[in-house]
Amino acid sequence: MNVLITGGAGFIGSNLADALVEKGYSVTVIDNLTTGSLDNIRGLQERANFHYINDTILNEDVMEGLIKKNDCIIHLAAAVGVKYVLENPLTSIETNIKGTEVVLRFSNIYKKRVLIASTSEVYGKHMHAPLKEDDNLIYGPPSTMRWSYAAAKLVDEFTALAYHRTKKLEIVIFRCFNTIGPRQTGLYGMVVPRFIKQALRDEPITVYGDGTQTRTFTYVKDVVNALILLMACDKAIGEVVNIGGQEEIAIKDLAGLIKRLCNSSSEIALIPYDNAYGKDFEDMMRRVPSLEKLESLIGFSPNTPLDETLRATIEYFRRHPD
Ligand SMILES: NC(=O)c1ccc[n+]([C@@H]2O[C@H](COP(=O)([O-])OP(=O)(O)OC[C@H]3O[C@@H](n4cnc5c(N)ncnc54)[C@H](O)[C@@H]3O)[C@@H](O)[C@H]2O)c1
Repeated sequence: MNVLITGGAGFIGSNLADALVEKGYSVTVIDNLTTGSLDNIRGLQERANFHYINDTILNEDVMEGLIKKNDCIIHLAAAVGVKYVLENPLTSIETNIKGTEVVLRFSNIYKKRVLIASTSEVYGKHMHAPLKEDDNLIYGPPSTMRWSYAAAKLVDEFTALAYHRTKKLEIVIFRCFNTIGPRQTGLYGMVVPRFIKQALRDEPITVYGDGTQTRTFTYVKDVVNALILLMACDKAIGEVVNIGGQEEIAIKDLAGLIKRLCNSSSEIALIPYDNAYGKDFEDMMRRVPSLEKLESLIGFSPNTPLDETLRATIEYFRRHPD
C-alpha cells in the first residue's frame, strides 16, 4: 500500500513515516520544511520504500501527481504552534485552509482515502471535561489572532465533511490533543520541549500565566499507533475523533515534574501572558479529551503514562541538546 504523508518531515509525520516504512508500506513525504527538518527523516532516506519531495502542499501540480500515485493520504502539513501562528497569521491561514482544500479536491478526483489532522484547539474555551466530539465550540473574537488556528482547522473539518456527504469521499478527521515525544521542537511555542530544554540547562522554567491551566499529553508513538489503526478502519469514515492522553496536569505541576525528572536546579518562573504573547492573548484553561469514540472505533486509546513519556522525551533532548 502506498501512503502519502503531507508534513512528514515534522514531528508527528516523521514518527509516523518511521513506523509505516518499518511495516513495509511505501511512504512518500511532501514537506517544505517550514517547521519540519531533514534531520527527522535522515534515517529513512536510504530506504527503498521511502521518498521525500521538498515542496509545498499549495503546489497543485505536484500534489495532483502525488495523490494520484498513492492509496491513502495522511494530511498533517500545517502552520502549527501558537507562537508561529501569531507571528505568521496570514501564511498560517493560507496553508491551513487552502492546503487542506487542495488535498481534499485531488483526493476526491482520484477517490483516495484521506485522514485530516485537526486539533483540540477547535473546542475553544471550554472548562468542562472530558471534551466530546459533538460538543459545542466556544471561541473569542477574531481580533484575538490565536483563534485563527482553531477556526482554520474547523473550516478544514467542515470541508472534509462536506466532501464526504456530497461526494462520498472517504475522510477521517482526527483531533490531536497536545502530543509530545522525540523530535518535537520548542521553537514554535510547544510547552514540553521548552520546559525540558530550560530544565536541562538549569535555566528558569518559564510558566505562562499562573500555571493553573491544565492539559493532557499524548505520547507520539500512541498517536502513530492510533493513526495506523484509523487508516484501516472503515467505521471511522465520515467521523471526527479525538486522539489524546488521559492524565490531566496543571502546567505549573508539569514544570515541577520535568524539573524533578531532569534533576534540575532551575527555578520555576511565572511569566504574564502579555509578556509571552503580547496583548489580547487568551489561553484555554482546561483541555481533556473523551476517548470513548476512539476506543469504540479502533479498540485502542493512548495509554503510555505521562512520566514514561516525559522520560523518553528528556532522553531525546539529552542526546540532541541543540
Ligand atoms: N503536536 C501537537 O500537539 C498537535 C496537536 C494538535 C494538532 N496537531 C496537528 O498535527 C499536525 C502535525 O503537527 P506536528 O506537531 O507534527 O507539527 P510540525 O510543525 O512538526 O509538522 C507540520 C509539518 O508541516 C510542514 N509544512 C508546513 N507548511 C507546509 C506546506 N505549505 N507545505 C508542505 N509542508 C508544510 C512543516 O514543515 C512541518 O514539517 C498538524 O496538522 C497539527 O495541526 C498537532
